[in-house]
Amino acid sequence: MSSDKKVDCSRRNLVFATAAVGGVATVATAVPFVASMLPSERAKAAGAPVEVDISKLAPGEMLRVEWRGKPVWIVYRTQEMIDSLKKVNDQVADPMSKRPMQPDYIKGDERSIKPEYLVVVGICTHLGCSPTDKFKTGAESDIDPNWPGGFFCPCHGSTFDLSGRVYKNKPAPDNLEVPPHYYMSDTRILIGEDKKA
Ligand code: FES
Repeated sequence: MSSDKKVDCSRRNLVFATAAVGGVATVATAVPFVASMLPSERAKAAGAPVEVDISKLAPGEMLRVEWRGKPVWIVYRTQEMIDSLKKVNDQVADPMSKRPMQPDYIKGDERSIKPEYLVVVGICTHLGCSPTDKFKTGAESDIDPNWPGGFFCPCHGSTFDLSGRVYKNKPAPDNLEVPPHYYMSDTRILIGEDKKA
């Protein structure tokens, strides 16, 4: 077992690309979460939506932001990553996400508004650990020789695909949650609000 599988469940690795003043998160500013919150941070913790700039996110990369005190991941999926989703439909527990872990405009195995961008809450649906991204495929992943990329929860071993769908026979009962969100432009996402809201 690699060292990244021995993580204390109670200490989620909450390092976010935090929102700058004005509430726009960027890829370039990855700083630790700070204890003293500015008023705008308090408002966000209470539920205000978070605007995210995804213009610097490259294919295959993941951006972490915070919304309502929870980590939210935005993954820029490559075509290969998108193609991997259909291949695991028979291996995941709820392939079409019939259980309500997402807004009604999120459908299918891609679980996204745009196929290339996955937006999910990075909290395991078992006991609330934060899974680790495991985008390396095959033996290099240290998970399974046939691993197509996804997420691994170090607490009790749940695995999720690149849409945040949990694999069958794992402790986590549900897919990762997709938060309400919409595209304000091609490079900006508002997390925490639906377009119709
Ligand atoms: S908290 Fe993720 S598997 Fe238990």
